Amino acid sequence: MRGYFAIGAERISKPMNMGSLMRSAHAFGASFFFAVAPDTAIRETRHSDTADSGKHLPLYLYESIDELTLPRGCALVGVELTDDAVVLPSFHHPSAAAYVFGPERGSLSEETRSRCAHMVKIPTKFCVNVGIAGAIVMYDRLLSRGGFARRPLNPRAEGETLAQHVRGAQRVRGVRPPEVG
Ligand SMILES: C[S@@+](CC[C@H](N)C(=O)[O-])C[C@H]1O[C@@H](n2cnc3c(N)ncnc32)[C@H](O)[C@@H]1O
Repeated sequence: MRGYFAIGAERISKPMNMGSLMRSAHAFGASFFFAVAPDTAIRETRHSDTADSGKHLPLYLYESIDELTLPRGCALVGVELTDDAVVLPSFHHPSAAAYVFGPERGSLSEETRSRCAHMVKIPTKFCVNVGIAGAIVMYDRLLSRGGFARRPLNPRAEGETLAQHVRGAQRVRGVRPPEVG
């Protein structure tokens, strides 16, 4: 997949949620994870993070949002259930994006929102668990940027066949991909 993404949390307080977010970030292929003013001992996240993501996914800790530095060209995307946020199914995920989630109690701070290039929301009746919200956003990014074949019009219809260089076979520089039959 082209581009990259990071996952972050502001003032997260429950080790299980931190662990769940980190594990999902690792599983979906995040490039790094960051926590702004976390309320929790990071070591405790191992209770839910059975993939031990901290060993495989770079983790950056910041005391405040002012300290957060992102790679050049990486858009900060705030995820919060607010009136002005774009609904996720209509959101164009930036090629390079860092998604930031709010705390279990309360929501993203004004300081963090003002740093965000975009605000998105999951169209739910009320807030879901932050770990769940993270997985939904990452899955939506995968769906929209992952280069998957489109769904057939009905369950029995033929699915779309993609050229192997789009999905499946690994692209090797200088080696022609096999013909698709
Ligand atoms: C459990 S929610 C925060 C509680 C919520 N502000 C409340 O009291 O109703 C934790 C975080 O998950 C994310 N979140 C949960 N549901 C969401 C939704 N439907 N759309 C966008 N973000 C959501 C946001 O980042 C939010 O700050």
